Amino acid sequence: MKTMQQRLLGPTGLSVGIIGMGCMPLSVNGRPSEEEGIKTIHAALEQGITLFDTADAYCLNAGENGHNERLLSKALRNHPEAIVATKGGHIRPEGRWETDGRPDHLRQACEDSLRALGVEAITLYQFHRPDPKVPFAESVGAVADLQREGKIVHVGLSNVSVAQLEEARNIVKVASVQNRMNLFDHSSMDVLKRCEELGIAFLPYSPLNGMGKAGGIGSNETLSRIAGAYDASPQQIALAWLIQLSPVILPIPGASKIANIVNSAGAAKVTLSADDLSVLGTIASA
Ligand SMILES: NC(=O)c1ccc[n+]([C@@H]2O[C@H](COP(=O)([O-])OP(=O)(O)OC[C@H]3O[C@@H](n4cnc5c(N)ncnc54)[C@H](OP(=O)(O)O)[C@@H]3O)[C@@H](O)[C@H]2O)c1
Repeated sequence: MKTMQQRLLGPTGLSVGIIGMGCMPLSVNGRPSEEEGIKTIHAALEQGITLFDTADAYCLNAGENGHNERLLSKALRNHPEAIVATKGGHIRPEGRWETDGRPDHLRQACEDSLRALGVEAITLYQFHRPDPKVPFAESVGAVADLQREGKIVHVGLSNVSVAQLEEARNIVKVASVQNRMNLFDHSSMDVLKRCEELGIAFLPYSPLNGMGKAGGIGSNETLSRIAGAYDASPQQIALAWLIQLSPVILPIPGASKIANIVNSAGAAKVTLSADDLSVLGTIASA
């Protein structure tokens, strides 16, 4: 197993490989076979990746809820170094993405995730997305209760604003925030800055601009030129930019192919110059 630069997962005290793996592509439309999926997870471990991001909703539809969690549980059985971060709060009726932030649902979802992952307590449980039908404090309160009961070790949030982060902090100790961020999308920069001030881990999701778009990011001329100068792929530069953007960032690139997670892991070795960092920072507004 290769070693990878380590970074603290916010205030948890846990040290993880600086690049994590987003596991959604292993369980949604276009997913590989279970055997290929497990090989991809093992390839990530081989590169020194130890943080695996999942959710109960990473599946094709409600009938197979927990598909991704069961896959990870199977693949990581003999890998105590791996840390699995899951989420609850999304449901997949007939394959649609809907929210359910009711306390009763979150309790049931957490208990199902415990079973799917085969653990006594979930290391990092992230509330997936605020539900407009349920007061945010009620959803967060339910997750705090689950933590008090020992079913969750650390609590994370996802898809939140700065105001929601502050509201949650009045209810529970927040270990991490997972929002969308990449070279082309800076909409959560204010949330990142607040996480940095508080020492909370920030997990940028869709760090390569999302499934179906990641392969094409090299068509951006600036990115492609800088990638050429470092003899790196555009995806590696996109991840290196995130890593250097803030000491609390841990990108979680998704992958269903071995070659892609191996390539992404290589970003941990790329150090961008201050000039290139600032030029890359202008891509979103260009
Ligand atoms: N909290 C939320 O609401 C939320 C929302 C979306 C995603 N997420 C999480 O964030 C993770 C990452 O986001 P994402 O999967 O949406 O998007 P992404 O990481 O931006 O892109 C994923 C795609 O990039 C391709 N890829 C990966 N590494 C590559 C490389 N080095 N070169 C070329 N292509 C590469 C993969 O293709 P192949 O599949 O063909 O390997 C994969 O499908 C997800 O897996 C999930 O865990 C969370």
